[in-house]
Amino acid sequence: MASLKNLYFTLSHFSRTLSCPLSRSRTQAITALLLTTALFFFYFTSPFSDASPTTTIASTLASRLLSLSSVSSSTTHFALFSGRSCADSTGLSSVTTSDTNSRKTGDHETGDITSCDIFDGDWVVDDSNPLYQPGSCPFVDGSFDCFKNGRPDSDYLRLRWKPHGCQIPRFDGMKMLKMLRGKRLVFVGDSLNRNMWESLVCALRESLPDKRKVFEVSGRREFRTQGFYSFRFKDYKFSIDFIKSPFLVQEWRILDKAGTRRETLRLDMIQGSPTKYHDADIIIFNTGHWWTHQKTYKGNNYFQEGNYVYPRLEVAEAYTRALRTWAQWVDANINANRTRVFFQGYSASHFRGGQWNSGGNCDGETEPIKNDAYLVPYPWMMSVLESVIAEMKTPVFYLNITKMTDYRKDGHPSIFRLPKPQNSAGTIQDCSHWCLPGVPDSWNELLYATLLLSHHE
Ligand SMILES: *[C@@H]1O[C@H](CO)[C@@H](O)[C@H](O)[C@H]1NC(C)=O
Ligand SMILES: *[C@@H]1O[C@H](CO)[C@@H](O)[C@H](O)[C@H]1NC(C)=O
Repeated sequence: MASLKNLYFTLSHFSRTLSCPLSRSRTQAITALLLTTALFFFYFTSPFSDASPTTTIASTLASRLLSLSSVSSSTTHFALFSGRSCADSTGLSSVTTSDTNSRKTGDHETGDITSCDIFDGDWVVDDSNPLYQPGSCPFVDGSFDCFKNGRPDSDYLRLRWKPHGCQIPRFDGMKMLKMLRGKRLVFVGDSLNRNMWESLVCALRESLPDKRKVFEVSGRREFRTQGFYSFRFKDYKFSIDFIKSPFLVQEWRILDKAGTRRETLRLDMIQGSPTKYHDADIIIFNTGHWWTHQKTYKGNNYFQEGNYVYPRLEVAEAYTRALRTWAQWVDANINANRTRVFFQGYSASHFRGGQWNSGGNCDGETEPIKNDAYLVPYPWMMSVLESVIAEMKTPVFYLNITKMTDYRKDGHPSIFRLPKPQNSAGTIQDCSHWCLPGVPDSWNELLYATLLLSHHE
């Protein structure tokens, strides 16, 4: 792990001084090479992008500076955390790891991941997957446990995410447990975040010698209702929590003129939580899917600010306002020196022939999409998210998973959200969430890689 020391972000304190993961000697070498101004921009904005080790310094820098000409200082911290940061620096250093060796040799070097966009890649077959055996984790929601529910094929379990031009470290549960010792990690969001939360709990549990040393503190085994759940890893004194908050802003009720209670959504108010979490060590937010539901999408007499209920408001406008409310709350309440903030992107759905409630289906899919031409355009919600994050003072690391999930039409529970015999044809299919083990394990592998980079031993 020696190279790691040279590479981690100096971000443990999350200050907005934003230096990149360059060792001192490298820094000096670069300083000798570049003009101060260029260096300044270079440091502050170079992304996890597409520089391959063969990219020349000159072209890397030139393209970087070109793409920067319109970046204002307020967006620099976004660049740093957006998965497009601190990275082309590697083009200047000598750190490379060949694509082929690191996984099998157990060599978990992460240096090279700073040289690429870890969210841009392919799914490749890897027989060492999955991270935990199908059906082995008691904390997988029944509706995600495709194996238990009788899904017959298993190729979908053998796919690993492989970024173009770099290698991500294999998930090492023991190492992550140690990294998280004494900490609190909180997922806040909708059921896709719950999917990721359960995956992380199971992946970490797998490396515990005594599996009884992880438990949900209230003893629950069903995590779908509103509220707060907390998995405690006893020997490591840390917890991984989930707080359901599908819109991030507050669902609300009012009495209308006729005296009928109506549901609204308070765009100006962050959702209250049964437990405070602003001082957790790591927080992973998401929101997205609920904004596509009909009531939200139509936006008639639904969105509220203060006492005012909009007779009609475009969902894009409502979503933007809600995210701004979230962003203000984060900037006002989260101490970025203490807490790392992540935002999980929009996870793709794959309904054919209808939506979830109108006969849409995805059963029988056993392979990912191979041709990029069949992928959907980047969701507008994520473009809004990117621009909101860019204006925040708190650095937010954006887990840009849309495209990687879009390939995986084979990864959903479909009819196997239910056990036999209910999972027959004709049942409502789940083509939004993911089987576990499955796709969310790869999100956690990327989360792990990201945390490794900034981890101080
Ligand atoms: C965060 O750290 C910076 C640099 O050490 C310091 O100036 C700042 O006051 C700290 N902020 C908070 C909220 O503690
Ligand atoms: C996220 O990924 C999409 C491709 O799906 C890309 O177009 C977009 O620029 C990425 N955003 C960031 C901030 O890297």
